[in-house]
Amino acid sequence: MKNYIKTYLQLVCIGLLLVSCNQTDEKKLAINTVNTNLNTTIESKVDSLLAIMTLEEKIGQMNQYNGFWDVTGPVPENGDAAKKYDDLRKGLVGSMLNVRGVKDVRAVQKIAVEETRLGIPLIIGFDVIHGYKTISPIPLAESASWDLEAIKKSAEVAAEEAAAAGINWTFAPMVDISRDARWGRVMEGSGEDTYLSSKIAVARVKGFQGEDLSAHNTIAACAKHFAGYGFAESGRDYNTVDVGTSTLYNTIFPPFQAANEAGVRTFMNSFNELNGVPATGNKYLQREILKHQWGFSGFVVSDWGSIAEMIAHGHAKDGTHATELAVNAGSDMDMESNLYVNELVTLVKEGKVDEQLITDAARRILRVKFELGLFDDPYKYCNEEREQSVTGSKEIQDAVLDMAKKSIVLLKNENNVLPLKKEGQKIAVIGALANDKTSPLGSWRIGADDGTAVSVLEGLKAYSGNQITYAKGADLVYGQTVFARELDINVSDKSGFTEAKQVAKQADVVIMVLGEHGFQSGEGRSRADIDLPGVQQELLEEVYKVNKNIVLVLNNGRPLSINWADEHIPAIVEAWHLGTQSGNAIAQVLYGDYNPSGKLPMTFPRSVGQLPLYYNSKSTGRPNMPSPGEVFWSHYTDVSNTPLYPFGYGLSYTTFNYTNLKVNVVSNNTVEVSVKLTNTGKLKGKEVVQLYMQDLFASVTRPVKELKGFELVELNPNESKTINFTLSKNELGFYSNEGKFLLEPGDFKVYVGGSSNTTLEAKFTLE
Ligand code: NOJ
Repeated sequence: MKNYIKTYLQLVCIGLLLVSCNQTDEKKLAINTVNTNLNTTIESKVDSLLAIMTLEEKIGQMNQYNGFWDVTGPVPENGDAAKKYDDLRKGLVGSMLNVRGVKDVRAVQKIAVEETRLGIPLIIGFDVIHGYKTISPIPLAESASWDLEAIKKSAEVAAEEAAAAGINWTFAPMVDISRDARWGRVMEGSGEDTYLSSKIAVARVKGFQGEDLSAHNTIAACAKHFAGYGFAESGRDYNTVDVGTSTLYNTIFPPFQAANEAGVRTFMNSFNELNGVPATGNKYLQREILKHQWGFSGFVVSDWGSIAEMIAHGHAKDGTHATELAVNAGSDMDMESNLYVNELVTLVKEGKVDEQLITDAARRILRVKFELGLFDDPYKYCNEEREQSVTGSKEIQDAVLDMAKKSIVLLKNENNVLPLKKEGQKIAVIGALANDKTSPLGSWRIGADDGTAVSVLEGLKAYSGNQITYAKGADLVYGQTVFARELDINVSDKSGFTEAKQVAKQADVVIMVLGEHGFQSGEGRSRADIDLPGVQQELLEEVYKVNKNIVLVLNNGRPLSINWADEHIPAIVEAWHLGTQSGNAIAQVLYGDYNPSGKLPMTFPRSVGQLPLYYNSKSTGRPNMPSPGEVFWSHYTDVSNTPLYPFGYGLSYTTFNYTNLKVNVVSNNTVEVSVKLTNTGKLKGKEVVQLYMQDLFASVTRPVKELKGFELVELNPNESKTINFTLSKNELGFYSNEGKFLLEPGDFKVYVGGSSNTTLEAKFTLE
């Protein structure tokens, strides 16, 4: 930072004339809100700086450009590099995304700090979604661990590695609830449940941001996409969202609110319209709920190009109008629409945008930059030696391996096919994914190099006692696996089937690694069909004809419909896209060196036609068949209402038993629940004890079951433990259609067990 600015700041901290506005206006505009946790030293520095900034410079802070290399969205027409460099030099850029590595970050930071009038550092954003260069499991997989400490640690090491590469800010966690496996981005969230997602949101925010945001190994987090993005109609990405207030308040908002309460420093709005108004131009969401009601003191970044997209939505007349709508609605930073930088000065001069809003947006952005310590040392994240020693370090590899093992869900294990014997076995490994060192990295892995994951084949070969033979069987995708282009998925070649059958015939056990390539889920990758893609289903059935002793290892970014496999294949392991250490984690679980403990964070349907399918649905007025064969009840005539595998489901190599469920109503807003858990099997193991509640009648109907507590418990064989839960106001109540939190008297049920379909229940009444 230029010296004269430093001196100036010290001087003016003493007390400057702040931008003045009366209380009522401030409330209406949700600026200068009531957050009492703000650091007063930082606040006065921000004030001082704002006081010497021109309107153009403040607007510059609100402008975010994509870097010159990686691209994570459609490139705008006016996005040429020369103009970007020019704007950088003029102090008209506040942030860049997709710039990575100390060398490149330093280069752009140097321009901002040393060549502009005020020398305000950039904030460098990047999609550190599940790791930066060392990749951890996709967030949906991590969520299957229900292990909040491990998830926090995973975010912590991701932050450390990213920060060492010059990055200050991640566009994560995505906290969108989704109930539709067709949506490609379910891989990026925590699944279908609001309670679990809220807990995970907190763990991830704390992991990324740490205790001290200004430390060189922590980065700012971003709760996204505010709001409703996961409810895209028919699971098609970017599609229309139309949901009522009950869903908005009870299902969609809570994880965002939890992230805000955990201190998340930024929010990202979303591409979708919500009930007719695009989220980016949605004043109710951003000003009323987020900034006013929740008192959020950080800043809101638009999604990539989402300001300009309000024209295509049919909400804005042109770019100028879109700019006006977005700023007035509370979008503080423009990601790659390139509109704020070109349109805002005129809009302010014409009186269409109040300058107070510009000052407020700039204030929020500067505040976070100060909190990150960027003004003390803009190059604090740019240390080549640290980058060298931290990237891919043992600590990070260990953390992602640990997370990967914990993310695996055992779906079926008939006759104890698993764990595998460590010696004397002939093992056939089949499937293109088994030998793929890129696919396990998943979809959001821009910082990672292709081919850097441990494949399943490599992981299994590390156990040398068995003889391993590999056959690909069939391809899954043709062509390059790049982020922003369509994959060629019309794979029909079955010429590898013969070889696959030959190796299977000679094996004691066949391990088939099937599913989706890492790039078959993620942004822009919705599917109308959620079966195994390509000819993999046929391959599975053909191999089964010659050897039935199959362990199916699934790699996928969403629930798949695998009815045939569930009926025929003795062992099924859900291994998602597990990241850099994928093959090692899978091998350790298959051989029993790690006893699987994951539970599904999303329902697996029997058929795509059941979607959206989720455990916490409403009862309807006709939930059950009144008498055999009767047609007038809520059902399909061709498939059952039940899922293939419910939310919360997952097996272990040991077994658990639940007894002694007790409920004690302490008061009208405190209910204690306890249950005894016993490990009834032969191995040490972990179980996620889940508590569900049902409010039997209410002024606004409540779901048939809602998760309200969980605990991850590890027990030795024959060991028992009593698990205690407390249901307080937050768990017992709900939001009305007006967004008011209600605690109503009445009858309730609790269900406790190792899955959402548990039947162990007890009743209680609140007066
Ligand atoms: C668009 C995605 O929706 C968002 O989640 C991501 O952070 C940005 N692109 C930046 O890559």
